[in-house]
Amino acid sequence: MRKIFFTSLVILGLISCQNNTKKSQVQTQKALEKPAFDHKAFKMKGMIIAKTTFKTFKSKISQTAEKGGLPAVVNFCHDNAHKITDSIGKSHHVIIRRTSHKLRNTDNKADIDEEAVINEYLKLQKEKKQMSPIVLKDTQGYVHFYAPIKTKPECMSCHGTPGKDIPENIYQMIIEKYPHDQATGFKVGDLRGIWDIKFLQNKS
Ligand code: HEC
Repeated sequence: MRKIFFTSLVILGLISCQNNTKKSQVQTQKALEKPAFDHKAFKMKGMIIAKTTFKTFKSKISQTAEKGGLPAVVNFCHDNAHKITDSIGKSHHVIIRRTSHKLRNTDNKADIDEEAVINEYLKLQKEKKQMSPIVLKDTQGYVHFYAPIKTKPECMSCHGTPGKDIPENIYQMIIEKYPHDQATGFKVGDLRGIWDIKFLQNKS
C-alpha cells in the first residue's frame, strides 16, 4: 500500500513537472513571437499628438499676433505654453513636454533620457544626417515618443539672434520674463529642442 502511494506520488510529480515545462515553453514562445511593444503604433500616435499640439500653438499664436503683435505673443507663450501642452496631454492620456539643450524656461529642463535623445540628435545634426522620431521605454516601463523640433523662419523673431532677428523690445521682454534665457542664436533648420510624449497607458 505504501509503495503504491509513493509510486503514484512520483508519477503525479512527473506529470505536473511535464505540464509546467510545456506551459513555460508556450509562454516563452508567445513572448518571442510578440514584440515587447508596438513601436510603429506609438510612433504614429506620437506624431499625431505632436502635430496637433504644434497646430494648436500656431493657430493661437497667429490669433494673438493679429490682435497685439509680437509682444502679445511673448506674453501668451509665457502664460499659456504649459496650459496648452497639459490640456492636450490630458485628452490623449499622455504627458507632453518640450525641452531643449538651450532652454528659455528652466521648468522645461531635460531629464537624463531626454538629454541622451537631444545629444543623439545633435550628433546627427553635426554629421548632417536626418533626425527621425524615436520610441523608447523608460526604466519604469512607460513608452515615450521623442521627435526633433526644428527652428522655422517664423521662430526667428524670438529664437534667432537678438538685435538682428529678434527686435530689441522683444528681447528685453524675454530677458525680463526669463532671466536665464539661452534659447537665442538659432538658425533656420537648427535643432531647437525635442518633443517628449509619455504614454500613461500601456505601461508594462
Ligand atoms: C513670440 C515669441 C516666440 C516665437 C515666435 C516662438 N517662440 Fe518658442 N518660446 C517662446 C517663449 C516665451 C517660450 C517659453 C515658454 C514657457 O514659458 O514655457 C518658448 C519656448 C519654446 C520651447 C520650449 C523649450 C524652452 O526653451 O523652454 C521650444 C521647444 C520652442 N519655444 C520652440 C519654438 C519653435 C520651434 C518656434 C517656431 C515654430 C517658436 N518656438 C517660436 C517664445 C517664442
